[in-house]
Amino acid sequence: MRNFTNVKDIGSLDLAVKEALEVKANRFAYQHLGKNKTLMMIFFNSSLRTRLSTQKAAMNLGMNVIVLDVNQGAWKLETERGVIMDGDKAEHLLEAIPVMGSYCDVIGVRAFAGLKNKAEDYEERVINQFIKYSGRPVFSMEAATRHPLQSFADLITIEEFKTKERPKVVMTWAPHPSALPQAVPNSFAEWMNATDYEFVITHPHGYELAPEFVGNARVEYDQRKALEGADFVYAKNWSAFADPNYGKILSKDRAWTVDTEKMALTDNAFFMHCLPVRRNMIVTDDVIESERSIVIPEAANREISAQVVLKRILESL
Ligand code: CP
Repeated sequence: MRNFTNVKDIGSLDLAVKEALEVKANRFAYQHLGKNKTLMMIFFNSSLRTRLSTQKAAMNLGMNVIVLDVNQGAWKLETERGVIMDGDKAEHLLEAIPVMGSYCDVIGVRAFAGLKNKAEDYEERVINQFIKYSGRPVFSMEAATRHPLQSFADLITIEEFKTKERPKVVMTWAPHPSALPQAVPNSFAEWMNATDYEFVITHPHGYELAPEFVGNARVEYDQRKALEGADFVYAKNWSAFADPNYGKILSKDRAWTVDTEKMALTDNAFFMHCLPVRRNMIVTDDVIESERSIVIPEAANREISAQVVLKRILESL
């Protein structure tokens, strides 16, 4: 594997999950792969899980790790070409990227959507510049339109907890006080569509995701109807994708919050969320604290998804 930005980069999902379970059972067996190799993790945005789990995965593989928070201590970076740099940005990404590449063997990048310019966000300008100019393998730690390490961890978690060959997985929009990118729901949809699960997306009118991510999923605007018989409920907020409302909040309707009454419509479903989660906006205390909530094992599997991706990149160096 050279780069990892979407579901296609992982190849067969069956093989990826099999490898994940092997790595999970023996996570220190591949330390030789990372000896004298350096991972550089570059964060343009905040993180708890991605930062810790990816660093742990790299350490499991024997790698050295450097972390750069671009907005805390680094020069402010200009990302647009042709800009007269007479403002507060002291360095251009086009110099910074190859310099960063010269200090490491593998690069992880987190760069969220700005939600101001849809074309710019959906071109994945920042991570694609890293791929083009760093000279190193690059993997996404959540980019503008996808969060593949999260989706891979979600898939591993569903495979571990499912009791039916073909579970019903429902991704439901839920309210949030601020405008969030579509990266997590886009990516989750992309990965679920690559399985043979029954996959349903439910959200209020106006929150339709990009058609390339919705794929063959059933879209159901009645949340209660969507949840009937679900085996997994995956809650997430996202801002509007469709024009002219790109990046906007259209609703904060707490009638969409996942609560005990909604979970009662399911087939005793497991509750999932990528975290961080806004309690009593996205999900009630009762549901997230219930025995059917698997948000902690889901987060723990971030270490495993990152380790499989890093392992494959190291094997290809
Ligand atoms: N789920 C996730 O990516 O968490 P962080 O934003 O804390 O990294």
